[in-house]
Amino acid sequence: MQGQDELGVSRRGLLAGAATCTTAAVGPAAQAQPGAQAAAPSGAVQPTPGLSKVSLRINGQARAAEIDTRTTLLDTLREHLKLTGSKKGCDHGQCGACTVMVNGRRVYSCLTLAIMHEGDEITTIEGLGQPENLHPMQAAFVKHDGYQCGYCTPGQICSSVAMLEEIKAGVPSHATSDLTAAPRLTADEIRERMSGNICRCGAYSNIVDAITEVAEKQA
Ligand code: FES
Ligand code: FES
Repeated sequence: MQGQDELGVSRRGLLAGAATCTTAAVGPAAQAQPGAQAAAPSGAVQPTPGLSKVSLRINGQARAAEIDTRTTLLDTLREHLKLTGSKKGCDHGQCGACTVMVNGRRVYSCLTLAIMHEGDEITTIEGLGQPENLHPMQAAFVKHDGYQCGYCTPGQICSSVAMLEEIKAGVPSHATSDLTAAPRLTADEIRERMSGNICRCGAYSNIVDAITEVAEKQA
C-alpha cells in the first residue's frame, strides 16, 4: 500500500506514535519545575536555589538580604531593603540617578552587583541627611532650586558630595588644564565632573550654584 513500509507501519501512524512519545517525555510528571530539586535528606537545611545571603553595611547599619547573586546593588537597595531614595532612571549606567557612595567613591548602583560589596561602607541619600537635619549639599540644592521633578536629585547630591572629595584629593578631570597643580574649583570643572548625572529637567545651572556654594564653604 502507498505510504506503508514492509513492516506495515504507515507514515501517519509513525508520526502519531512519535508525538505520543514526545508528549509523555515532557508531560507534567516528567517536566522539571523551576526550583524543583531532589528531596532533601530529612533534617538537612537546604538553601533556596539560586539565592545567596548578602551582608551589607549601609548608612552605618548592618543590613542583610537573601538575593539572587545577579541582583544589582540598586535593586537590592530599592526592592529588598526598601531604600528607595536611589532612583532607577536608565538601569544602564547612562543617567546617574542611581548614584550612591561606596567607601566614599561615587558608583552607579545599577552597574554593580550587591554581592560584590560585602564589607564596603555604602552611603545612600538616606544616609546623608534627614529632612530635619539636611546635609549641607541637600540644603544648598533646596536653597538654589537645584531640581524640578527631583528624580535625578538623590544621585546628583551623592555624586556632588563625592566629587568635591575627588577635587580635594587632587584627582584631575578632563577639564583640568594643569595636571601638575591641584584642580581649581571652576564651573567648567564642576560641569565636567558632574557630566555623569543627567537632569532631564535641565536644572544644571542651579545645581552648579549649589555645589559651588558648598565647595566655597568647605574651602
Ligand atoms: Fe543607573 Fe541610570 S539608573 S545610571
Ligand atoms: Fe527632574 Fe533633574 S530635577 S530630572
